[in-house]
Amino acid sequence: MSILITGVAGFIGCNLAKRLTNEGHIVVGVDNLSRGALQNLSVVENEANFHFIETDCADMPSFLAEMSTFHQKFPFTEVWHLAANSDIPAGVSDATVDLKDTFMTTFNVLEVMKTLGIKVLAFASSSAVYGDHGDQSISEVSGPLLPLSNYGAMKLASEAAISAAAESFLTKTFIYRFPNVIGVPATHGVLLDFVNKLKANPNLLNVLGNGTQQKAYLHVDDLIEGMLQIQRHATEKVAVYNLGAEDEGISVRSIAEAVVARVSPRANIVYGVENRGWVGDVPKFQYCLDKLRKLGWTPELDSTAAIKRAIADIVEQEITKK
Ligand SMILES: NC(=O)c1ccc[n+]([C@@H]2O[C@H](COP(=O)([O-])OP(=O)(O)OC[C@H]3O[C@@H](n4cnc5c(N)ncnc54)[C@H](O)[C@@H]3O)[C@@H](O)[C@H]2O)c1
Repeated sequence: MSILITGVAGFIGCNLAKRLTNEGHIVVGVDNLSRGALQNLSVVENEANFHFIETDCADMPSFLAEMSTFHQKFPFTEVWHLAANSDIPAGVSDATVDLKDTFMTTFNVLEVMKTLGIKVLAFASSSAVYGDHGDQSISEVSGPLLPLSNYGAMKLASEAAISAAAESFLTKTFIYRFPNVIGVPATHGVLLDFVNKLKANPNLLNVLGNGTQQKAYLHVDDLIEGMLQIQRHATEKVAVYNLGAEDEGISVRSIAEAVVARVSPRANIVYGVENRGWVGDVPKFQYCLDKLRKLGWTPELDSTAAIKRAIADIVEQEITKK
């Protein structure tokens, strides 16, 4: 198969490219390198079946031109759309960030697929589409869907546009609602933030929020395995799936203590006062994963084990190797 991945130079995109090239697919990856980096592609740069194109998916004329050229050589059979803004606070302070990188990239991916006749789409959505449901366990039919951030709003709008496209020109669509995904190469997120703060000042860790925020975390290896399992077994035309670990998650306080213990045990941890880290942060969420379990899949690592492994890998990435 010939597969297009958008956002390939980001954290999840490069891991996915590695997995799909290893399976023997031709993979064409695109990225505008706004938040990803070429060095993340070192894991695939020597693969003969991997090709990278630097392009902005929000710029329709150049995106379509680049994709048309490649489509003539290796007709794409499916698209994995991962390009998006991953900085939620940036999108809260400037709504055009998520309009462009989270929504327009999706809109344009759909236009390119329609123009070139590509019929299978896998989309990286997010738990952010649900908003704040407190202690309720969230299934794929939970509602109302009231996102707290522009990022979540533009992911939800993307899902809506994909649903409409499925009615007219897509034959199969996978909408994956990711939880917090961790691992390397880390490009953003709480672990990278804590490790870098301690690198800058080994005596102090300032935590956004009061530390009670509690969320589930999924290791990127499990995420990719889960997505592929859904692709193999889901029967719906528009397959919407929560992906995650089946546990209550782990608090930000526990994560801060674990990172301090690993990086700088003498550091003083100072917490904020709010129960959320920033505007748009959802303080607590827990997934109901019955639908995913019915496909016969559960992740290898629970949130605690995933955090432990990711801390070790991110410390190696940020400190040991530099
Ligand atoms: N990591 C998580 O915890 C998480 C959680 C939920 C959803 N997601 C979704 O998964 C996908 C991948 O996330 P990630 O963690 O790898 O983030 P990331 O920031 O590392 O990767 C996103 C990539 O998209 C690229 N990009 C952004 N705008 C673009 C544009 N206009 N044109 C071309 N490329 C563009 C960036 O340069 C970056 O390389 C995103 O859609 C994200 O919203 C991630």
